[in-house]
Amino acid sequence: MSDTSFDYSLDERQRTMLEAMGIKLWLPDHEAAPSLAPTPTADPQAAVETVQKPVTAENLEPKQPLAGIESAQRAIKNIVFAEQILEPTPTALALSPRPAGIEQMDWPALQSAVSGCQACGLCQSRKNTVFGVGQAPADSAHAPQVDWLIVGEAPGENEDAQGEPFVGQAGKLLDNMLAAMRVGENGKGLSRSQGVYIANVLKCRPPANRNPSPEEVAMCEPYLARQIELLRPKIILAMGKFAISTLTGSNDPVGKLRGRVHTLKHASLQLPVIVTYHPAYLLRNLPDKAKAWADLLLAMQTYRELSNPNEQASLHTDR
Ligand code: URA
Repeated sequence: MSDTSFDYSLDERQRTMLEAMGIKLWLPDHEAAPSLAPTPTADPQAAVETVQKPVTAENLEPKQPLAGIESAQRAIKNIVFAEQILEPTPTALALSPRPAGIEQMDWPALQSAVSGCQACGLCQSRKNTVFGVGQAPADSAHAPQVDWLIVGEAPGENEDAQGEPFVGQAGKLLDNMLAAMRVGENGKGLSRSQGVYIANVLKCRPPANRNPSPEEVAMCEPYLARQIELLRPKIILAMGKFAISTLTGSNDPVGKLRGRVHTLKHASLQLPVIVTYHPAYLLRNLPDKAKAWADLLLAMQTYRELSNPNEQASLHTDR
């Protein structure tokens, strides 16, 4: 892969933003300020983690310092394609049946099906359903036309109150992460109103922010599946273990799954999925923000390959 094909330069605002995220910048030698010099990693597989422990916020500890850009480049050279096929899963007892025909619904019908859904017990405690947020659609009958789909876990208290995903502290971090991703038009960063759609695996808040149950995930999954079909994003960023297991089919820890490109096969689509830590986890585990930044670099590189076949060719011939 040619090193010159990827512009890693960051402007003042983005550097400030990344620093606000707590992300240290390890830049190529000519760019790096002395205090931000990379900590070399001896292990060429550093970006492809192999943590075997079950994934919990507590046991996802930093393993070793990670030189973000170098590590993402190594990860790209070690791309492994894993496949997940979204298939209907067994459902839990419904309070009232989930609406039929989700897989044929258009965007407005899907929105209305979610807002009226009473298919699991979460409908009893929710204030609002949280369908998703993103760039405005060209018209109200269609899904927004976005390249990026970000998938989180489930609404929390603020999201439940406002009916919009990622509006709390984790949402602020997500917005900063998106802004640092300069793959928008004219090299602009992404934002929740530009180039992106943000959705969760669950559309209703689990009480007291407990983990989603497997039955709740199974019950809600067809909504996300249809969102993906209608949005037809070019790339998906799965944040946290519930989004990751739903979209990759693997319950392995995030640390083991990150650093490579997964493939989601769904309906006629075949989409690259990049996995990373959940923003709420990153707020509690600051050292892992560097790994998340490496994941975003991998996502940006993958996206650029999709948009520029020449770059892809050079990536694959240089292996
Ligand atoms: N965490 C999520 O996964 N989704 C939200 O919408 C908010 C917090």
